[in-house]
Amino acid sequence: MASVELQNIDKTYGSFEAIGNLNLSVDDGSFTVFVGPSGCGKSTLLRMIAGLEKITAGDLKIDGRRMNEADPIERGVAMVFQNYALYPHMTVEQNIGFSLRMAGLGKAEIQRSVAVAAATLQIEPLMKRKPAQLSGGQRQRVAIGRAIVRNPAVFLFDEPLSNLDAELRVSMRVEIAKLHRRIGATMIYVTHDQTEAMTLADKIVVMRAGKIEQTGTPDTLYADPDNLFVAGFIGSPRMNFLDGTLDPNGVVRLDCGAVFKTGLLQGEGDIPIKAGIRPEHFTGRDDAGGAIDLKVDVVENLGGTRFIYGTLSSGQAVIIEDRSETIRRPGEIVTAGFPARRALLFGGDGERIRGTRPANTLPAE
Ligand SMILES: Nc1ncnc2c1ncn2[C@@H]1O[C@H](COP(=O)(O)OP(=O)(O)OP(=O)(O)O)[C@@H](O)[C@H]1O
Ligand SMILES: [Mg+2]
Repeated sequence: MASVELQNIDKTYGSFEAIGNLNLSVDDGSFTVFVGPSGCGKSTLLRMIAGLEKITAGDLKIDGRRMNEADPIERGVAMVFQNYALYPHMTVEQNIGFSLRMAGLGKAEIQRSVAVAAATLQIEPLMKRKPAQLSGGQRQRVAIGRAIVRNPAVFLFDEPLSNLDAELRVSMRVEIAKLHRRIGATMIYVTHDQTEAMTLADKIVVMRAGKIEQTGTPDTLYADPDNLFVAGFIGSPRMNFLDGTLDPNGVVRLDCGAVFKTGLLQGEGDIPIKAGIRPEHFTGRDDAGGAIDLKVDVVENLGGTRFIYGTLSSGQAVIIEDRSETIRRPGEIVTAGFPARRALLFGGDGERIRGTRPANTLPAE
């Protein structure tokens, strides 16, 4: 096991800056997830930790030791890729044991390690097959097996489940969580999948354009995002952002007509804001809360819950979750209330307005 420190890390390709002055601490034994839009630098960062990509500037420390120039093997890391990268002509057993054979280990020792990995991943019956004779999920298990036998202090996963169908993703996600609990190694994991990020992570790192926008526990990022980008990125369906103004007494007036009171005092007259309200937070208004009227466009019925996709009189699209008994029809006007504390306010610069309400706290339900 090992901690990973990234200190003032830069990565440039020619004149293009892929990563700019990035700082991050990954705790020993923790599960850290990188998320962010395509091209923001997630894979680049992972590859630099793995030793597959040169670090332009800054320090990479693994367990306190500077590793910028160390060989991938020396670093004690193992990487699992999205496209399994198995050797097609080798059996499962040979694929898993390959790195150990390269390292010159004895036959018995290799067999023992491979058997442990196979048992952990429940792929013992597949050991004599070739990759072409495996399903996607089985291939991904083999790829993880190849990492396990190296007994790395740090596992690096780059979208390992993206090629799998929905059901397999869920079961493999649970397998990876169990694996982390069982072996306790540090894991750094890149994904596009909200649910994977929220369920697997001790800490989520939200990246944009080579920089970190915010790091925190899944709960912190969900309930207390620092800016519009993080608020919009975490959560599915996405948070609604409604335009309006905030007056010096903390009263918000939304363009769609809703008015509600917040504890956010600011002394600059009316300022333009966006109020961020998640679909699931239209649970009825409290004393200070507000309400919006929306025309129903589409109702998505998921069985246990429904999402109403609607439009405000201003023309803005909104999504609300509806757990009521009544099923709404397209064209209907629905009034949806929300408690004031559920509206997060963002200023014109996209930064969260926290004012007098202490950060990281939500008053009790
Ligand atoms: N070898 C390279 N030469 C030049 N630019 C590169 C190279 N590798 C990556 N880049 C650029 O660096 C940026 C970050 O790429 P990276 O692969 O890390 O993105 P990512 O966050 O993993 O995206 P995705 O979610 O699509 O996998 C991109 O703009 C990419 O085009
Ligand atoms: Mg990538």
